[in-house]
Amino acid sequence: MLENPYLDQCAFRVEKVSDSTKGAHPLEIRLSANFSSPARIREFLSGRRCAHAALSSLGYPMFAILRQKDRSPAWPFNIIGDISHSSELACAIIARPHLGIRGLGVDLLSLSRKINPGVIPKILSEQERDLWLPGKDPFPLNAKIAFSAKEAIFKCFYPLNKIYLDFMDAEILFIKDGIFKAKILKNPFNQNESRPLEAQGKVQIEQDHILTALLWKDEPWTDIKGDGF
Ligand SMILES: CC(C)(COP(=O)(O)OP(=O)(O)OC[C@H]1O[C@@H](n2cnc3c(N)ncnc32)[C@H](O)[C@@H]1OP(=O)(O)O)[C@@H](O)C(=O)NCCC(=O)NCCS
Repeated sequence: MLENPYLDQCAFRVEKVSDSTKGAHPLEIRLSANFSSPARIREFLSGRRCAHAALSSLGYPMFAILRQKDRSPAWPFNIIGDISHSSELACAIIARPHLGIRGLGVDLLSLSRKINPGVIPKILSEQERDLWLPGKDPFPLNAKIAFSAKEAIFKCFYPLNKIYLDFMDAEILFIKDGIFKAKILKNPFNQNESRPLEAQGKVQIEQDHILTALLWKDEPWTDIKGDGF
């Protein structure tokens, strides 16, 4: 069973994707009617259900989690959180308040999802390809973990400053024992800062899925000048 990757700092919920609208807010149900496919509606509402369960476990009241123009969830009350779903599973992670958490990203990737190996040069750098594509398997597990970790990185940082990170803006250079380590080449807080930044996230493989997660706090950034915080 997939577990809370940051047990002491976050609330987490994972559920099977289903048609149930129980636990979703009426405005979310109305919003989901704009999606063209029933599968997308299911995934959207299942993600929202997970978010409400996680929020409720932290004591937050029920409110609608609408969408920003960039498709990220519109969290009220300075909530930091993230949602992810495959066609089978949905999950949400929400930061406990007052712990200095600034960003949270989570990504679920179904191991049964067929990903065209043709995308590999677009998502993995040469160094990553050397590391994660050692044999004949066109898309081995570690390459999938690196792909998923990059999406979690994007979702952790993008909502903060709306600085777009491309797949080549981060490299996953370590995957072992439930940890991934990334070198982020484009500073997601300050575009003028050229030093690469290091981040360490979590990896789980359960329920035929990869779950990657990244939690970001203030402390490691305090030496960066001119970024306004
Ligand atoms: C945004 C993106 C990461 C979503 O990944 P995905 O695997 O397609 O989908 P997931 O199920 O993991 O996540 C979808 C959820 O993420 C959230 N989300 C969407 N856009 C988001 C954004 N810009 N920022 C943060 N969260 C976002 C939403 O809650 C969405 O679900 P919903 O539409 O039902 O509310 C992906 O579509 C994308 O644009 N990737 C390109 C950028 C990137 O990954 N760069 C790598 C940098 S190292």
